[in-house]
Amino acid sequence: MHHSTQIAVFLQILCAVFVGVSSAEVGSSCGRNNGDIISIRSDLALAVCSDTIVRIVRGKDAASAMKNRESLVIDPREHHSKRFSQFSTDLDGGGNIFSLKTEKLLVQIDHVGESIALAFLDSSGDFLYTRELVDSKAQGDDGISNEVSVQQSWSSVPEESIYGGGYYVNNFLDFKGAPIHMVQMNLEVVIPFLASSRGYGILWDGYGETWLNPPRKSNQINLEPTARSREQSHETVATGTFTPPHSGSYWFSLDMRNDYYFNTNHHISLQIGGLQSKDGNTMTACNVTENNLPKVLLCKVDGLNQFNNYKVVLNYDSDQTPRVFWSFQDPTGPTTLQTKDTDFIDYYFMVGESSTGATQLDSVMSSYRSLTGSASMFSKKTYGFWQCKNHYQSQEELLEAAKQLRLHEIPVDNIVQDYMYWGDKGWGPQWDEKKYPDPAGMIKELHNEFSLSFMVSVWSKFDNTTSFFDEMKSQGYLLDDSTYFDAWNPGARALFFQFIENAHLSIGADALWLDATEPEYDNHLNKKIFLGTGNQFRNTYSLEVAKSFYEGFVSKIPKRPFSLTRSSFAGQHRYGSVVWTGDTVASFGCLRRHIAMSINYQLSGDPYWSMDIGGYLRPDDQYTSEKYKMLMIRWFQFGTFIPIMRVHGCHANTELWNYGNQTQSIIVQSALNLRYRLMPYIYSGFRLVEQNGFTMQRGLVFDFGFDPNVRSISDQFMFGSAFMVAPIHTVDSSRSYYLPQLDQGLWRDFYNGTVVAAGYHHASNVAPNKTLLFARSSIVVLAPISSHVHDPITLLSSEVRIYTGKDSSFSLFEDDGIDPSPSRPCTTIHFSWSENSSILRIGRLKGKSYPGMPSSRLFHIVVVRENHGAGVGETADPDATVQYTGKEIAVELGQSLEQVKK
Ligand SMILES: *[C@@H]1O[C@H](CO)[C@@H](O)[C@H](O)[C@H]1NC(C)=O
Ligand SMILES: *[C@@H]1O[C@H](CO)[C@@H](O)[C@H](O)[C@H]1NC(C)=O
Ligand SMILES: *[C@@H]1O[C@H](CO)[C@@H](O)[C@H](O)[C@H]1NC(C)=O
Ligand SMILES: *[C@@H]1O[C@H](CO)[C@@H](O)[C@H](O)[C@H]1NC(C)=O
Ligand SMILES: *[C@@H]1O[C@H](CO)[C@@H](O)[C@H](O)[C@H]1NC(C)=O
Ligand SMILES: *[C@@H]1O[C@H](CO)[C@@H](O)[C@H](O)[C@H]1NC(C)=O
Repeated sequence: MHHSTQIAVFLQILCAVFVGVSSAEVGSSCGRNNGDIISIRSDLALAVCSDTIVRIVRGKDAASAMKNRESLVIDPREHHSKRFSQFSTDLDGGGNIFSLKTEKLLVQIDHVGESIALAFLDSSGDFLYTRELVDSKAQGDDGISNEVSVQQSWSSVPEESIYGGGYYVNNFLDFKGAPIHMVQMNLEVVIPFLASSRGYGILWDGYGETWLNPPRKSNQINLEPTARSREQSHETVATGTFTPPHSGSYWFSLDMRNDYYFNTNHHISLQIGGLQSKDGNTMTACNVTENNLPKVLLCKVDGLNQFNNYKVVLNYDSDQTPRVFWSFQDPTGPTTLQTKDTDFIDYYFMVGESSTGATQLDSVMSSYRSLTGSASMFSKKTYGFWQCKNHYQSQEELLEAAKQLRLHEIPVDNIVQDYMYWGDKGWGPQWDEKKYPDPAGMIKELHNEFSLSFMVSVWSKFDNTTSFFDEMKSQGYLLDDSTYFDAWNPGARALFFQFIENAHLSIGADALWLDATEPEYDNHLNKKIFLGTGNQFRNTYSLEVAKSFYEGFVSKIPKRPFSLTRSSFAGQHRYGSVVWTGDTVASFGCLRRHIAMSINYQLSGDPYWSMDIGGYLRPDDQYTSEKYKMLMIRWFQFGTFIPIMRVHGCHANTELWNYGNQTQSIIVQSALNLRYRLMPYIYSGFRLVEQNGFTMQRGLVFDFGFDPNVRSISDQFMFGSAFMVAPIHTVDSSRSYYLPQLDQGLWRDFYNGTVVAAGYHHASNVAPNKTLLFARSSIVVLAPISSHVHDPITLLSSEVRIYTGKDSSFSLFEDDGIDPSPSRPCTTIHFSWSENSSILRIGRLKGKSYPGMPSSRLFHIVVVRENHGAGVGETADPDATVQYTGKEIAVELGQSLEQVKK
């Protein structure tokens, strides 16, 4: 705090006396103290948040908005703590500031006519990240969303990709130029953070309905409903023509006019082609069947020719014909954000610290999390498997499932009670004692008999027959005439937490499932809320519900907080909250989309994410259909490599044995055993997430951004820094995959240990018990096959696989997996491999011993080679076994290396 006065003085002097360059070493409040604010003009203010981050506010009396505007996304705990070594400003002759410089960033302030545009460069001034565009007003006026309040555009160059923004129902990864309608709904989540492949990020601190790259009203394609589809009698076909003004790729926005909004399986497809197109081919721009179609669906085709007349065919099954708008994918086109119901543009421009050795995008994510909060580690059990279904109907049924999970030897750490446990007592956090006579005893039994953690679902709404409703209502905590509580009201948040504490946390529940936090049916729209109106804060309901859980939890419950939510927003990761993608449909198309959605979501800065493995709406013949069983197997195999691995389904007994012995055994062997074997690697990886702003499930652009081939690959990713995963997402088990170029080291096939060359590959008939998994030169520590993360067997030994090809290292992080304290005792063991000397060094144990730490254990060391150290199973004949008691050990593996070379 005391620093703020210093800056205030500093700036006054600066402005009055034309000090050309000066500097300060201070903490910054990012413009939340007067002293930090650099007022450029009455309608533009800047603040330096750190060496890598500046904040920009535009609007009437910008300086005071900068100070007073309450941000829901910025972590208040981070205020005053960010440090920067210095910044300086240059003044022109008239006393106007024309540039601002930090250690990492140069912001040029250009006067363009009446307007001011900021350009963002590296500190040397040699590399332009992007610049604000001031003449893009025309586009805003013509956008299809009415009543736009604010808009900002930034320049872009052809070799740039734009990621992030959350996740949406499509397969696309690179959102450069893509029209994205950013509103929360079941299946789509808004995170107003964009990350560029050029190493910068933009956090748009806006909460209302938002468009990224809004399509133009004038770009609507006229469609005439012509006929009922012959095959699908409930579908209508509408046709029109499209004449592209340029050759190239086109986006199409299908505006459903809210018709499809909720919980009914719908199909829509858009095809472009025929007529005078050169080859007469018909291209499918999209073909989606979903449980919830979004309000606006994004579709795309490549390779259209200028001035050709293309036939446009839309198949849909709603009453109104969706509106279709085209947008040309202009390689040099801008990136635009526009938001309704606000008076201010308030955004953060950031770059990475790249000097940390992290890749560029890792370091951008780290800057993002320095603003929005870090993502703390969950209990170790959270990274194990979650058994979930809609829904266990009694205490007896749930305990029986727990028992059977152990009898069937299915590795698992968590079991979940979905809604309706209140029976006919009314919607709210209360147990129906007819079906759940002793929930406290049930949870105790889950903990003690079955080593299972327990999560229970809670909604933000209450039946009007319940005492919850009455209490909320009497305090004025409900959203007008709705049954949802006003999560923006601190009093309502505290009361909500009290409800869930009384019903669930006080009897031992470990985690909370905060369902339907979009909120469902947009219950907040056109309503007054504590902070203003529901429209102004449209996208932030989930954030506030997660906050309610988190703030109560950390002050009262001695566990690591975890909540699962159906929506999310920038900053929600700091509340111990993980989003899952909502009510999906069980199809290969949906599985395929999820790979892209998950990668893009994590490029939006949130390193946690989950989904319903197996799909939510499953086919009627789910237990016997071979096609469905294969889908479930493939979905589990993908789910092995995401942050939180959880099965769920509607009207489904999702326990694996219901799908037959063979399916169960393939899933246990190829997915669950692998997840549990990887646990030391996963847990250590999420330690880097917590400490360094790392991301575990990584779009290829994180590690291979230098390789232009990877920038739009949306169905492959790295899991940690060692593994590349190409999940099988087709019914016939075929797909192509790309192994990026490595400047050093090699790729090996995980299942047979052989070296695989980089480049495009086509794989077909990948056996049901395998996926496509490749390890790059690295060290990976594996647990024995185990039934849960605290299985005593995991303390006795670990397998250390060395994928040779270059020097590599790995830090094994361990703690008791439970203690919530940031200063909890923990240890690290550093492994390093020297390629030249063929020596593996296992470093001295560092840190403080934690409860249950093994004082001695075996490391089975395996130099991976063809059919040695390959696959999920434990390696029967390791190259060396050493007993480790915390002292440094060097293991010479020259002879094994000879084998590798053969
Ligand atoms: C759309 O997908 C469905 C199911 O995957 C398929 O049967 C149908 O032929 C596809 N339609 C088009 C136009 O591609
Ligand atoms: C309570 O809710 C039901 C619908 O769920 C509605 O029919 C009824 O009118 C409501 N009662 C009151 C007193 O608001
Ligand atoms: C499935 O396995 C169980 C034992 O693991 C066995 O009792 C049962 O007969 C098997 N069922 C089939 C259909 O093979
Ligand atoms: C190992 O797997 C790769 C595919 O990743 C395959 O091309 C190769 O033939 C396999 N090698 C052996 C020896 O099975
Ligand atoms: C997969 O199944 C085949 C055939 O049953 C078997 O030969 C192979 O060893 C299995 N592979 C793995 C990785 O378990
Ligand atoms: C390994 O040895 C080669 C030649 O023997 C040498 O050029 C290289 O620098 C060495 N690498 C390291 C990491 O020591």
